[in-house]
Order: sequence, then C-alpha cells, then structure tokens
Amino acid sequence: MSAHVDRQTVILEDVKRDAQVKAYLYQANENLKALGYTEHGFRHAGLVAQIAHNILLHLGHSSRQAELAAIAAYLHDIGNVIHRDNHALSGAQIAHDILSRLGMSFDEIALIINAIGNHEEERGSTTNAISAAVVLADKADVHRSRVQERDPTRFDIHDRVNFAVQHSFVRVSDDRQTIALELEIDRPSPRSWSTSRFSSRACSCAVARPARWGAPSG
Ligand SMILES: [Fe+2]
Ligand SMILES: [Fe+2]
Repeated sequence: MSAHVDRQTVILEDVKRDAQVKAYLYQANENLKALGYTEHGFRHAGLVAQIAHNILLHLGHSSRQAELAAIAAYLHDIGNVIHRDNHALSGAQIAHDILSRLGMSFDEIALIINAIGNHEEERGSTTNAISAAVVLADKADVHRSRVQERDPTRFDIHDRVNFAVQHSFVRVSDDRQTIALELEIDRPSPRSWSTSRFSSRACSCAVARPARWGAPSG
C-alpha cells in the first residue's frame, strides 16, 4: 500500500534545502570538474533559476509560472550526477522523484520534467514558456567565474568563451518582443564564438520570439 501524500505548493527554497538536491548537485559538479567542464553546481543552478524567474515575470507570466521555471532551472543539470550524456533525461527522472517526494502537484511536475528533459539543444525542443525560459537562462550564464580549469593553456572553447566575459545580463524589451543577452568582454572574441555555444543554442530556443510561448496565464 502506497503512502498518501497531500499535494502542496513547493517553492524554490524547499528544493534548495533538500538534502538529496544538495548532495546530487554537489556531486554533479564534482564529476564535471574532474572531466574539465565549466562550473555546473550551486552557482550555476542558482543563477539560472534567478534568470529564468526574471524572464517570465518580465514577460507578464504569473509568479507561480516564474517559480516553476526557477525550480526547473535549479534542477536542470542535476542529471550530471549520473553521466554527462543524456543528463537532461536522467535529470528529469531525478527531478520527478524528488518533486514527487516533496508533494508537488503532478501537473506542475509534468511541466518541470519537460523543461529539464528538453534543455539540451541537440535533442530538446522548447514547447512552452517554462521550458524556453530555462533554455535561455542556461545559455545566458556565461562568465569567467564558471571556469574551473586553472591552467589557461588547457582551456577548451567553453573555458575561453566564459573567461572572456566579465559581465552578462539578460534584457527583456519593454514591448516584450525581444530578449537580448548583453555581454561585456575584455578581449577580442575568439574566432570560434561564431560556431560555438551562442549560434546554435540561441537559435534553438527561439530567443527573440517569446510570443510563441503562449499567452501569459494569471
Ligand atoms: Fe545541461
Ligand atoms: Fe546548465
């Protein structure tokens, strides 16, 4: 006989203080650090959550929609605790288990696991405001503080791009038609930027077409 769980309102703070979330996010970043990846831990999770939340609020979506985007964003890379490959799909499954245990409604869990499962441009498709906000926020976290490799001679393209950026900001236009990523860099753009993270990823998330995400709901 399964235990009855009263469904309740789960907020980002509940997720942040969950012991399983803390342990898995910590280890996910340890795994990627050992493999030479940029930072994917608490800093990235928290910042992406904040950006996704702000994007939806600025577009006129409800505070609950923005909170769901923040929760999805906070958990979007947790699948790296298992393996980098398919971490979007494994992360969605992990988030499902955690949010079910915390008592979130199944309707809300459905939105969150969809956003997490589709946050990689190679195999994901954004179909609503929450998933689009997570993708935009994830790609917008580009900053030198993400670089975990201490030896510049061993920088890969992700390290070089991130290390060049001193300030980044996501701006939603007043007419809500455009979302722009503003970057301050302190060196010439690496030639490889044009074929790196920004071109394909920016296109994959319909960066300037928030109208496609559906009307804001109350
Ligand atoms: Fe990811
Ligand atoms: Fe990420």
